[in-house]
Amino acid sequence: MENLENIAEKIVEKGKGILAADESTNTIKKRFDSINTVSTELSRCDYRETLFSTTNISNFISGVILFEETFFQKNKNNESLKEKLENVNCYPGIKIDQGLEPINKDKIETYTKGIETLDERLKPFADNGAKFTKWRAVINIGKKIPTNECLEKNSSLLAKYALISQKNNLVPIVEPEVIMDGNHSLEECYKVTKKTLNMVFDSLKKQNVNLKGILLKPNMIVPGNKSNEKLDIAESAKKTLLCLRDCVSEQVPGIVFLSGGLSSVNATMILNEINKLNDYPWKLSFSYGRALQEDALKIWAGKK
Ligand code: 13P
Repeated sequence: MENLENIAEKIVEKGKGILAADESTNTIKKRFDSINTVSTELSRCDYRETLFSTTNISNFISGVILFEETFFQKNKNNESLKEKLENVNCYPGIKIDQGLEPINKDKIETYTKGIETLDERLKPFADNGAKFTKWRAVINIGKKIPTNECLEKNSSLLAKYALISQKNNLVPIVEPEVIMDGNHSLEECYKVTKKTLNMVFDSLKKQNVNLKGILLKPNMIVPGNKSNEKLDIAESAKKTLLCLRDCVSEQVPGIVFLSGGLSSVNATMILNEINKLNDYPWKLSFSYGRALQEDALKIWAGKK
């Protein structure tokens, strides 16, 4: 059995990152709506198979996060999509959270569902070759939010998830996403992300999660998408790295950013700048969904 720490290190091998292709059935429908394509089991299979058949994909992509349907899906020729990835040395991973639930009646803040059944739900994936998992917590910035209650609950769930995942020999991708929507400033994004990451790492340590066997998937530090502040690539890169240095243990092998609604060009440029500045032991790479698929989706446009 491959060791957790080795898997985590291989995922963030120099020059490689993760493709997040784990959109839920609802989310992929929205993506397909944007290209006037009907989302069916077959069209989702065609699209994702096309993505995974990219020439020399494994020169750049070390792992792909899959949704449950894709993990066990076969194409018209009865070939498994997951095995196609394994055959080209891309690790298959699984999105294992069950989406968001409001924390209280006001319905603004959420926690991530699925912890009670996590251990049993992991088994079929662990038994069928999954190497890693993903759990996404969502933190919004707004009037009087995030509250401590929201940060504590989501941090504690992320740590419980990470521990259970590691017990099943699956590398947990710990994703606390501070959402870009809103009119908040770059500075507010920095403050909230710093507080969030500090609480997440406190929880991970309290639960005795092996930090050498996780990957962190954070947001970059950017102004809200409705803010008057213009995105400054160099400033975002500097602030992102500053924030990570303040919060993230040196034991963590890699940090794989989400793109969170940034365009593929902006997400790539910020990551490039961060890597120019980085003098820390972690590898810094991507685990992009939209920023890797945006152009591919348009070009595919539902064609065979
Ligand atoms: P985006 O890069 O589109 O934010 O998606 C990454 C992801 O996996 C969200 O959970």
